[in-house]
Amino acid sequence: MPRYAPVTRLLHWIVAVMVIATFPIGVIMLTEGLARPTQDFLFILHKNGGVIILFLVLVRLVWRVISPAPPMPATLPPLQAKLARAAHWALYALLLVMTFSGYIRVRAGGFPIEMLDAMGVPSLVPRSDSLAETAQFIHANARFALALLIVGHIGAGVYHLLRKDGVFARIWPPLGKGSQ
Ligand code: HEM
Ligand code: HEM
Repeated sequence: MPRYAPVTRLLHWIVAVMVIATFPIGVIMLTEGLARPTQDFLFILHKNGGVIILFLVLVRLVWRVISPAPPMPATLPPLQAKLARAAHWALYALLLVMTFSGYIRVRAGGFPIEMLDAMGVPSLVPRSDSLAETAQFIHANARFALALLIVGHIGAGVYHLLRKDGVFARIWPPLGKGSQ
């Protein structure tokens, strides 16, 4: 069965691990009663990790044009193939919504993103409390949609892994030989 290219597989798993870590960090960093240094550290991890995710998702989308996804397995029922394709695009879209809204919330609010500041990258959005609030609202709500999709996606992945129908092997292992 044709598989995703090694670069695609590697990027998939780096982004997957980072997104799965970024979620709980986002929730924990906002809990009441955290020691200030702990909270600052989690914010730095969340914001800078989130920007790296944004960058990697953009790289993935460009790379996807250069190296398109292999055709869906012929054994897959057409409805399942359609659902999988829709879910994958929705995952990309929500990753962009989450990362852009996070970025805008922070920059429009006038806060630092340490990694970008160190590299001298200026804010790409104007300072604006109303813009920051709108972005915060989007960030706080879109997370539910992303979480739901990820749970469904992992469920589908585990289903294929247990069925040993070759679909899981399309994206795993991250390294190793390409497309046979
Ligand atoms: C936050 C975590 C994750 C995200 C955001 C994510 C995202 C994606 C996206 C966008 C694709 C489509 C690739 C493309 O065609 O361009 C994909 C494919 C895939 N993912 Fe994930 N993924 C995550 C975690 C996982 C996990 C934990 C598993 C394993 C259970 C998994 C299994 C798969 C499989 C098997 C495919 C290939 C499906 C096919 O053959 O078309 N993913 N993933
Ligand atoms: C896929 C990437 C991301 C995920 C999954 C994610 C997830 C989350 C979650 C679950 C929360 C807690 C929301 C709440 O309890 O209301 C949160 C809050 C937050 N996130 Fe993200 N985030 C991501 C990317 C980013 C990025 C790129 C930035 C900024 C550069 C960012 C900045 C923030 C900030 C500042 C908050 C606190 C919002 C507030 O003021 O209430 N996030 N994020």
